[in-house]
Amino acid sequence: MSTTSIIILAAGKSSRMHSTTSKVMHLISGKPALSYILDTVTSIKADQVLLVTSPFMEDIREYVSNSYANIKHIIQEKSLGTGDAVKTALKELNKKGKTIILYGDTPFISESTINELKESSQDILLVGFHTNHPKSYGRLITYDDDLLEIVEFTEANDEQKLLTHCNSGIVAIKNEYLHKLIPLIKNKNAKGEFYLTDIIKLANYHDIPCQVYNVEREEVIGINTREDLSLAEEIMQNKIKTRLMNQGVTIINPFTSYIAYDFKAGNDVTIFPNIFIGNNVSVGNNVEIHSFSHLDGVTVEDNVKIGPFARIRPQTYLSKDVKIGNFVEVKNSKIGAESKINHLSYIGDSEIGWETNIGAGSITCNYDGIKKKSKTSIGNQVAIGSNVCLVAPVSIADRAYIAAGSVITKDVDEDDLAFGRAKQVTLKEKAISLRNKHGQ
Ligand code: UD1
Ligand code: MG
Repeated sequence: MSTTSIIILAAGKSSRMHSTTSKVMHLISGKPALSYILDTVTSIKADQVLLVTSPFMEDIREYVSNSYANIKHIIQEKSLGTGDAVKTALKELNKKGKTIILYGDTPFISESTINELKESSQDILLVGFHTNHPKSYGRLITYDDDLLEIVEFTEANDEQKLLTHCNSGIVAIKNEYLHKLIPLIKNKNAKGEFYLTDIIKLANYHDIPCQVYNVEREEVIGINTREDLSLAEEIMQNKIKTRLMNQGVTIINPFTSYIAYDFKAGNDVTIFPNIFIGNNVSVGNNVEIHSFSHLDGVTVEDNVKIGPFARIRPQTYLSKDVKIGNFVEVKNSKIGAESKINHLSYIGDSEIGWETNIGAGSITCNYDGIKKKSKTSIGNQVAIGSNVCLVAPVSIADRAYIAAGSVITKDVDEDDLAFGRAKQVTLKEKAISLRNKHGQ
């Protein structure tokens, strides 16, 4: 029986990124480029998936092994080029099957294109695209339906550089030809590398037909530079926002907001301009996220209003009808239904019950300044006045009332009223003598 193998090449030096992180691990809308491919590949029925990395990419192998099952790691000892990278994987490929080669820096390749390659009967089928911005992509030399050669940008003459039909890098090839052609690739070129793309010319020389399967450029953009990365981000942001809008989310000015790939939203959610929504955020129905708010790792129930200028940090849970107002930061806290934190507050490591109001400027003092973070517990229908410091660990029971300006260090019981501030002293008409003293 014929088998399908998938090889993902990720052992390149990423020198054009000027980064200590491999380009395949740079994030696009909150997810590493390589993960886009692995997510797609793992939903396809392949007999084996091989990932080629460099010896020093231990972190990538660890990340992949922790996040995906059944990916086999192949080490390319030195980054000698894409042809050499495939050569390192040859020993894993039987003589009969077919192999689909994907590039780790080409994250948006779709399941349907890979399936198309998988089902095709061609000997060599390469994914190409047309673009008005061919940049440094390899140029395809074709004759009718036949692909004759790929000319790398570094080797191309001025005329070839004008060609706009480009190589995505992705190719399906019968294993017998891979075994035959890969060892024939030489590195006599401008970069001194073994170019995988040379197999097309070699195949033609050996009368093995090569065809092109064209897709849209957006599906196969390659990420070599930070500029490419920002283009990938733009493409993914458009996709994410289109998906959300189709699901019933209003995004007032999509171009000004960033939304991570895994954002989940109910119906009638409104996202105002200039919003950051990081990873692991989900919101229910009728939620409003007002301008200049920053959310990260948050779960939000129905009818919640957030911002403007709110920062909601990881491990936060906002129950239904909660209001979080301007200049409020919430971290690792659960806020009960219909509670309000409307102005200038910091709530950290806390649990707040339902219908509780936190007054303007009130904060939890959750950190001892050295190493320990402590919890604050606030019950239901509690009124915390303005400018209160709740020094954790501390617990405020249901329906308690905390006077404005208090520093609370001791627990407060149900229905109690607590003051924790210096008593006011008023000296009768003393202001007049003070003014006289200063000659005013
Ligand atoms: C490559 C193609 C080019 C194509 C473009 C599409 C070659 C020679 N050129 O150019 O025709 O238009 O992709 O994006 O293939 N890699 C290894 N080991 C190596 C070198 C690279 O695993 O020794 C990996 C990289 O991590 C990367 C992929 O192979 O994921 C492609 O390498 P890259 O250097 O990005 O090739 P391009 O210059 O983009
Ligand atoms: Mg590339």
